[in-house]
Amino acid sequence: MKWYKVAGVSDIAVPVSKISAGGKKLCLVNNENQFFALGSKCPHAGADLTNGWCESKKLICPFHRYAYDLETGRGNAGQNDFLPTYPVEIRNNDIYVGIPSFWDKLKGI
Ligand code: FES
Repeated sequence: MKWYKVAGVSDIAVPVSKISAGGKKLCLVNNENQFFALGSKCPHAGADLTNGWCESKKLICPFHRYAYDLETGRGNAGQNDFLPTYPVEIRNNDIYVGIPSFWDKLKGI
């Protein structure tokens, strides 16, 4: 797992931000000062989820309002889809996102 510094905690003024880490475009979600990193491309029809919003600990797609759990990435019942999620750590007021390497994925990390 490689960790990438993506922003300072005080730099994140909106609930859903566009970030990149390890060559991936991601959503960084600030839900009541708890941060989550998820894929930014909606699995339904490809909308940019960084234009979405949060409701009840879910990221809502701006196109057709599909909802994804911030912790697990699981879509609501009946959607049968999910978003990839990535670990987030706060270190000295900076936000880091962990991106697993190819080998980590093979090992199931
Ligand atoms: S593109 Fe996201 S719900 Fe349809």
